[in-house]
Amino acid sequence: MEVERTFVMLKPSCIQRGFIGEVISRFEKKGLKIIQLKVEKLSREKAEKLYEVHRGKPFYENLINTVAGKTVVLMILEGRKAISVVRKLVGATDPAEAEAGTIRGDLAIELTDNLIHAADSPESYQREHRIFFSEDELETY
Ligand code: CMP
Repeated sequence: MEVERTFVMLKPSCIQRGFIGEVISRFEKKGLKIIQLKVEKLSREKAEKLYEVHRGKPFYENLINTVAGKTVVLMILEGRKAISVVRKLVGATDPAEAEAGTIRGDLAIELTDNLIHAADSPESYQREHRIFFSEDELETY
């Protein structure tokens, strides 16, 4: 089955700069279905869970401090090949390298504060969405 789901988090700078609508609009225009959408103050505990694979890396503390205790938007998106489609729309991790036309390429420049996070594999999706959404929130419509 090619239809799959992915997890996305709009980082605090995305909310503070007023780009929630801009980013969601890009996903909608592409044809992705918004299965869940949540605004939440991200606890340090959940931030550490989300980024546990990066623990110990030089940028880890800075990354946690950029997102923890601040308001983020959490999303589950669905569509054909959604994981790779969303990664393409989002662009390269470093916004300075991201292609123009992508979300990071058009709207961001900092590396740690790169506006948005998207799951990079089915395994990441499974692990990450469970930090924020319960089973009964995953129903389609
Ligand atoms: P994200 O997609 O949220 O996943 C891990 C995050 O770590 C990444 O985006 C950046 O915000 C941050 N980060 C900071 N420095 C680096 C780096 N050198 N390489 C990769 N990710 C980095």
